[in-house]
Amino acid sequence: MPDSQPVTPVTFPPAFLWGAATSAYQIEGAVREDGRTPSIWDTFSHTPGKTAGGETGDIAVDHYHRFRDDVALMADLGLTAYRFSISWSRVQPTGRGPAVQRGLDFYRKLVDELLAHGIKPAVTLYHWDLPQELEDAGGWPERDTANRFAEYAQIVGEALGDRVEQWITLNEPWCSAFLGYASGVHAPGRTEPVAALRAAHHLNLAHGLGTKALRSVMPARNQVAVSLNSSVVRAASDDPADLAARQRIDDLANGIFHGPMLHGAYPQTLLTDTAPLTDWGFVQDGDLALAKQPLDALGLNYYTPTLVASAASAPAGPRADGHGESAHSPWPGADDIAFLQTPGERTEMGWTIDPSGLHELIMRYTREVPGLPIYITENGAAYDDKPDPDGKVHDPERIAYLHGHLTAVRRAIEDGADVRGYYLWSLMDNFEWSYGYGKRFGAVYVDYATLQRTPKSSALWYGQAARAGALPS
Ligand code: NOJ
Repeated sequence: MPDSQPVTPVTFPPAFLWGAATSAYQIEGAVREDGRTPSIWDTFSHTPGKTAGGETGDIAVDHYHRFRDDVALMADLGLTAYRFSISWSRVQPTGRGPAVQRGLDFYRKLVDELLAHGIKPAVTLYHWDLPQELEDAGGWPERDTANRFAEYAQIVGEALGDRVEQWITLNEPWCSAFLGYASGVHAPGRTEPVAALRAAHHLNLAHGLGTKALRSVMPARNQVAVSLNSSVVRAASDDPADLAARQRIDDLANGIFHGPMLHGAYPQTLLTDTAPLTDWGFVQDGDLALAKQPLDALGLNYYTPTLVASAASAPAGPRADGHGESAHSPWPGADDIAFLQTPGERTEMGWTIDPSGLHELIMRYTREVPGLPIYITENGAAYDDKPDPDGKVHDPERIAYLHGHLTAVRRAIEDGADVRGYYLWSLMDNFEWSYGYGKRFGAVYVDYATLQRTPKSSALWYGQAARAGALPS
């Protein structure tokens, strides 16, 4: 059944979480306050030419000072959950050693405010903002960064484990490794394919060590998960060369993380593919067992599918993998594979709108790890929203996007998937990494001159859905 024709009415289980998501560097600002030191994103965004218009997260949407109003806004809308991330260099400025209490206090106050409003907090420990000192020591390509992450996880688990039940170790480790160290469109902006593979392994290790560290200090009722941006990779044709390309990108995008984390192994084709670059000698005995920790849930972030073909036979036409412009590929060892533009309507990011991909993704992991609850930890769309003369912001395209994707989630639940919640990306417009403030993903509009927040019509629509537990028709 096409996703555009929902079953009527589209209702969700009573305990389903209706959330929104953000991340520290994208919203907090206050980058020099209360002992916070620079992260790799401060350094990168202040490096000329790295972000659109040289924009930075220095002020962002000033959430650090406005968090009480932001929580009140979420409560007014009717949201029942909020996923946010902790700025590592705010709580542990050098990336090692004791924590800064003022940094932890900010997150304690935020969590208490959420709980007081009946909103369930979900904490992401790492959403791309590595303390700069750790990058100076080598960053994710260095093994010690995984140990540092475990120490940091323990600090935050000790501080917040009594009041936060939902924990996410890493957000989209693929982006940290391959956009950060291979294509260089993200911080720290390095373009070293082998460093990217080493980073991927140390992120897997960090996830395992961090999960163990959290469990060692938190009540057993708390849930630990990871948020993967697993790609829905499709082949341009049934030609064996295209099917092989699909499998290889699936391994480079997905298996490289879910292999170790969920199954305790790297896919063999990944090792073969990258053999000309590295012998993976940085994987030590016991690492894969450590990476595979029992998890309580899986977080999936989904925006658009990926279409690939063997470069030798790929039809002429625009190429795009949706990860920004760079002379360097984010896909080590895959220069013979072409990324094609998927047909159909697109968002402001140029990403094709395809809710069937979300259904496919959920069903894939339902089969791959039976019984593991799933949360959609991100899904949403950027549009060029502007206030009307009367100050209201109408974004019917975003409502249609959310309607289509939530209907796909509902369809997956009907098909047997255990999806427990959905976090819209994003609560409010914010710093979209190297794209700066030009791409607006928010359900709430932010006027960057005044920092005033105005719920868009999609926020009101989503709030209505959250209150009813069903999509408004
Ligand atoms: C993925 C990331 O987790 C988030 O930080 C980003 O803003 C959105 N997707 C949109 O690109």
